[in-house]
Order: sequence, then C-alpha cells, then structure tokens
Amino acid sequence: MTICSVVGARPQFVKAAVVSHALRSRGVREYLLHTGQHYDDDMSAVFFDELGIPAPERNLGIGSGSHADQTARMMMALEIAFLDLRPERVLVYGDTNSTLAAALVAAKMHIPVDHVEAGLRSFNRRMPEEVNRIVTDRLSEFCFCPTQTAVEHLASEGRTEGVHLTGDVMLDATRVFAERAALRRPLISLTRHEAGSFALATVHRAENTDHPGRLSAIFDAFGSLDMPVLLPLHPRTRTRLADVDIPDNVEVMAPVSYLAMLTLTAGAACVLTDSGGLQKEALWLGTRCITLRDETEWTETTQGGWNQVVGADRKAIAAAVERVPAGLVPVFGAGSTDETPSEHISRLVAGSD
Ligand code: UD1
Repeated sequence: MTICSVVGARPQFVKAAVVSHALRSRGVREYLLHTGQHYDDDMSAVFFDELGIPAPERNLGIGSGSHADQTARMMMALEIAFLDLRPERVLVYGDTNSTLAAALVAAKMHIPVDHVEAGLRSFNRRMPEEVNRIVTDRLSEFCFCPTQTAVEHLASEGRTEGVHLTGDVMLDATRVFAERAALRRPLISLTRHEAGSFALATVHRAENTDHPGRLSAIFDAFGSLDMPVLLPLHPRTRTRLADVDIPDNVEVMAPVSYLAMLTLTAGAACVLTDSGGLQKEALWLGTRCITLRDETEWTETTQGGWNQVVGADRKAIAAAVERVPAGLVPVFGAGSTDETPSEHISRLVAGSD
C-alpha cells in the first residue's frame, strides 16, 4: 500500500505526527506532501523538528494567497506530485485549503481519498473551513470521525457508508506529547508567570481578524481581565494589530511550538481562543476554555461549562472568565475500541487494498 498524506498548516502537522507513525509502523509506504500553506519556520519547521515528523517527500512551496489563488496553485502542484508518485490512496486532514485541494485533485484522478477529522460542522458556511469540510467529506471514501456527533452529522446528510468512529487523533497527540512537553518545555522556560496566574489566548480566524470591531472588542475584553494574557500571535493577526489598542496586561509573543503550547495550556488559569483544536486540548489538559466564536464544531466541550462559547462580545468574554465550572472535565474523542485513534485509522487505511 502506497499513500500520499497531504499537510500544509500547523494543526495538520500535529495530526500527521501521530498518524504517520502509526501508518509506517504497519508497513504502509507513505509519502508526506507539504503544500507549503504555512512556511515560516515557527509555523512549520519547528513542528517537524520537535515532533519527529518524517521529512516531507516534497514541499510544494505554495505559500499564501486568496482562497482561489492558493487552492488553485495547490491543485496544480498536487496533480503533478500524484502523477509522479502514483499513490493508491490519499489521506487528508482537517479543513484547510490544503485539505480541499488534495481531495479535489485525488477524486478527479480516481484515487480514493480518506478524511481524518470528518463530519465536523459549524453550520456556518461563511467560514472557509466549513466549505472545505463539506466538500472533502463528500469526496472521501473513508470518513474518519473523531466523535459520535460527527458520525451523526454525516448520517443526517445521508452518509453512512465508509464512516468510521475512530476517535480524535488530537487526543493521541496530546497524550503522546504532553509528557515530552513537560520535560523539554517547562513553564519556567516560557514565561515568568506562575502556573494558574495567567490566561493564554490565541486569535487567528478570519471572522475575528478581518472585522476590526470584533478584534477590538476581544482586545478590550483581554484588557479588562485581572491577570496577564499571553498571546502567541498568528502572522495573520499581527498584520491587523494597527487596528487595535493593545492593553498593558497583554503580552504579545511570536507563534510558539506545539510542545510549548501544551505547557502553556496546561499552566494557564484559562484559555481564550478562536482555534478549533485548542478548545479540546485545553480540556484534555484540565484547563477551562472560553471560545471567541459564535459557534463551535466541538459541542462535546461545552458540557458542564468547561468550554463557554461567547463570540466577540466584551462583557460576555469577561463574564465567562469569572464563571468557573464545577465537576469533572469531560474527556471525549477516545474512540470506541481498545485501539488509539491513529492505530484505528492506520489499520483501516492499510487494510483497504
Ligand atoms: C489556516 C486554515 C485554518 C487553520 C489555520 C491553522 C484555511 C482556509 N484556513 O488559516 O482553518 O485553523 O490555518 O493555523 O486553510 N502567514 C504567514 N506565514 C505563514 C503562514 C501564513 O505570514 O507561515 C500569513 C500570511 O499573511 C497569510 C495569512 O497568514 O496570508 C493567512 O494564512 P493562511 O494559510 O491563508 O490561513 P490561516 O489563517 O493560517
């Protein structure tokens, strides 16, 4: 079995770190293709080095662009790569433009596509990611779902064949790398603040960065908090900083590596984010989350108030930080069998010839 796994953006590197390992342990010949969607060292190379991800077979060097421009250039380069490498299957992750480009090219070349993190829905088609998910699921032969909710979304769209509840590969990654993070990236090496005395924030979604009113409200809310707010900043958001006042308690940092992010997340009093993956990682590491979006795909996280979805409203954000949940942090995404999610996926991919 020869497969091409296509990655391009930060969260995909983390998912590929655990799935590639499982695939290669089963003897699958995997070519990892990096579209180059993320290209700065601190957005890409650091993940490969730190997580021991096999070097990509090719980096297509696509870089940034409008949605159509970026996706089209990825498609042209992927077509050439698939013609050369002749994979029997193509594996795609998540919901980025790299995911969509690879799924479209493979489907047109009659190469079966398998989708890791299938079935997620925000029901907001103004998000580019929602469009990418819907099309990719539709084109995929295997839909590997992280949660039962995701399976149900596909069923409600009439899709049951090829749908597998595998659990969440991000939970695998958190489990595999949290211990390494504690050793290699201790809190003291990352910040002068003590565990539990700071908030950790990330903001990068177009729905927040491209609307100055929303971005200002988010920064105002950070400024109203009674603790330091560490903000590792995505380059997209950095270009928007001229639109906002940065409050004194906000510490803007360069993007941090995955291990550093795990340490900061585990040490934070709470996480404020518009990321998808960080909502889950926070909970798995025992930290509550406040989501700076109007909806979440990860509805399991909201149980017991551990993740509060509050949008970009200043007062709602500040009130959510005050509201500390009682009870146990929900753990979800472990899948339905004794296998880890990555082992489950690699068994199905390897066994499909
Ligand atoms: C992409 C995904 C998003 C995912 C995120 C993870 C899409 C539509 N969006 O968003 O779902 O949550 O990755 O981080 O695919 N830039 C740099 N250096 C880089 C990469 C980007 O400076 O290495 C800047 C460029 O100005 C670029 C902008 O960030 O235009 C946005 O990058 P892009 O890859 O288009 O989308 P993300 O916002 O990263």
